Amino acid sequence: MTGKFITFEGSEGSGKSTQAAMLAEHLKQRNLPVLLLREPGGVKISESIRALLLDVGNAKMGDECETLLYMAARAQLVKEVLIPALEAGKIVLCDRFLDSTVAYQGYGNGVDVKTILNIGQYATRGVQPDLTVLFDIDARKGLARTGTSKDRIELRSIDYHEKVRQGYLALAKQHPQRIKIIDAGGSKEDISEQVNTWVDQIL
Ligand code: TMP
Repeated sequence: MTGKFITFEGSEGSGKSTQAAMLAEHLKQRNLPVLLLREPGGVKISESIRALLLDVGNAKMGDECETLLYMAARAQLVKEVLIPALEAGKIVLCDRFLDSTVAYQGYGNGVDVKTILNIGQYATRGVQPDLTVLFDIDARKGLARTGTSKDRIELRSIDYHEKVRQGYLALAKQHPQRIKIIDAGGSKEDISEQVNTWVDQIL
């Protein structure tokens, strides 16, 4: 595959989606072939699964169902657009990917991380990001940025969101080459410059 795959990760309110959109714009202005996706979602089937996952009415959803639904949404996105785009030489930016499942379902909910990685291998067909930018923010500060209408995951306790943050930091320690941490407390412009520098290194 000749394209490049860059993922944006972080806990709630980290500003990663804004930065992903800014990078997409920056690359488009350089006339580079860029595709911006999000997880869960990005294609029709996965967007339908997203609605199920985030619906506050689905309070009964068990850890197994939740983990498998995130993986199912991912599998469809990977097959339908991610692999074809990478084969066509595109720069694919994805707002969240497998690291999110490790952080939220693994570290946050206590689902076995090895199991997540095994199912993840099947769902992603082994596709891994060339670069992952992790936007790190204090759990309480991040949640305060998400507004009043919270989804099923955002509604979880501060304790849960703190575990997610620690999970991300543990992942970054395990994969220092791939995962670059950004302090999400900085200005939008400074953060964007830092993202551009890392992206330039892999392009
Ligand atoms: P978003 O708010 O960044 O669009 O992500 C949707 C929510 O889904 C967010 O609360 C994080 C959560 N999530 C997981 O719990 N596991 C996953 O694998 C993914 C991709 C997202």
